[in-house]
Amino acid sequence: MAAEWLLMATGRTPTNIAVIKYWGKRDEALILPVNDSISVTLDPDHLSATTTVAVSPSFPSDRMWLNGKEIALSGGRFQSCLREIRKRARDVEDEKKGIKIKKEDWEKLHVHIASYNNFPTAAGLASSAAGLACLVFTLGKLMNVKEDYGELSSIARQGSGSACRSIYGGFVKWCMGKNDDGSDSIAVQLADEAHWDDLVIIIAVVSSKQKETSSTSGMRDSVETSPLLQYRAQTVVPSRILKMEEAIKKRDFESFARLTCTDSNQFHAVCMDTSPPIFYMNDTSHRIISLVEKWNHSEGTPQVAYTFDAGPNAVLIARNRKTATLLLQRLLYCFPPQDNDLDSYMVGDKSILSDAGLQSIADVEALPTPPEMKTPNQKFKGDVSYFICSRPGAGPKVLVDESQALIDSATGLAK
Ligand code: DP6
Repeated sequence: MAAEWLLMATGRTPTNIAVIKYWGKRDEALILPVNDSISVTLDPDHLSATTTVAVSPSFPSDRMWLNGKEIALSGGRFQSCLREIRKRARDVEDEKKGIKIKKEDWEKLHVHIASYNNFPTAAGLASSAAGLACLVFTLGKLMNVKEDYGELSSIARQGSGSACRSIYGGFVKWCMGKNDDGSDSIAVQLADEAHWDDLVIIIAVVSSKQKETSSTSGMRDSVETSPLLQYRAQTVVPSRILKMEEAIKKRDFESFARLTCTDSNQFHAVCMDTSPPIFYMNDTSHRIISLVEKWNHSEGTPQVAYTFDAGPNAVLIARNRKTATLLLQRLLYCFPPQDNDLDSYMVGDKSILSDAGLQSIADVEALPTPPEMKTPNQKFKGDVSYFICSRPGAGPKVLVDESQALIDSATGLAK
């Protein structure tokens, strides 16, 4: 084995949005939840983490960079993921480079990790889910870990609960499990991304100056103080999970939308029931709920589902592209761009703008008041920072093209 060598792997992992929420742990250290949850994986082209992990005998310690800036790797959760993957590492041989790493060598070797999110981390869009799932997936590739995706999901879970659902594309269920050691608390794929591919997901990144309570501490407070959380976990979620699985299987949008909205609202009710209460949604979030509710009501059947995580951003799921264009017209009518720059107001699948007939700011200004809106002059310029248009997407993948690596193979440092 050459004295100075470096081996790398790069992976890309999507983020996910829960339609039946995880909120509350029964074991803080192992990250075991109080109820099952279900999520939709988002298209990695729009919302994903890319991670490169490198190993070399010349690295004196483990190091990590996030979006180009070095961060401390001291956190217990990172360490848990690293430890669990290292335990499962196998022999690795790269004949071309003349590198041979024995299973037992991995305990002594250190890694450098560089990770990058293709969406703003500060936007509060489950960046930790994508990031930790990507770390586990990519370390697993580098270390030739042969465990199945269920096992990988249980390792990602120990980094951040919601991360375990980012191990698969499409529709994913995190089964809470019963065992004390967490061995059965794993994610499973309910259906892949092709199963229901006419869904369109529009995210409104809501402007907010408020520092939010982290999910970790928020859910700890809810477990300790909210009687509603107990009722939700024990009585409401179990039957809701079965109905949601059925709705996904049958592509029953009406049922899917009702369950998604109701579950998001109950999660925020649990937050309100926490002492002291936690407010994740703001006036803009409430306005978006009201816009969707009024429209769904006027149509007589749900056109769009909404769901909100631990922050004010709205995730809106439209039944198809046509509905998504009608939704976009309503959203842009109420929340026109502050600086009149339509192009940077929509990221991800920008083609939704032209599909909605919105090519310029003049088109936005000419939008008629939607029929179900009673107060035609209510416009809230600046209350939405921007929109992201996405769709259900695929799970993690390896990026083989070395030019996509985030670590410089000559220096071993983040590029
Ligand atoms: C509201 O997975 O971020 O997004 O396990 O403490 O890291 P930790 O929490 P995290 O919580 C996510 C909560 C949620 C709902 C969900 O994704 O199911």
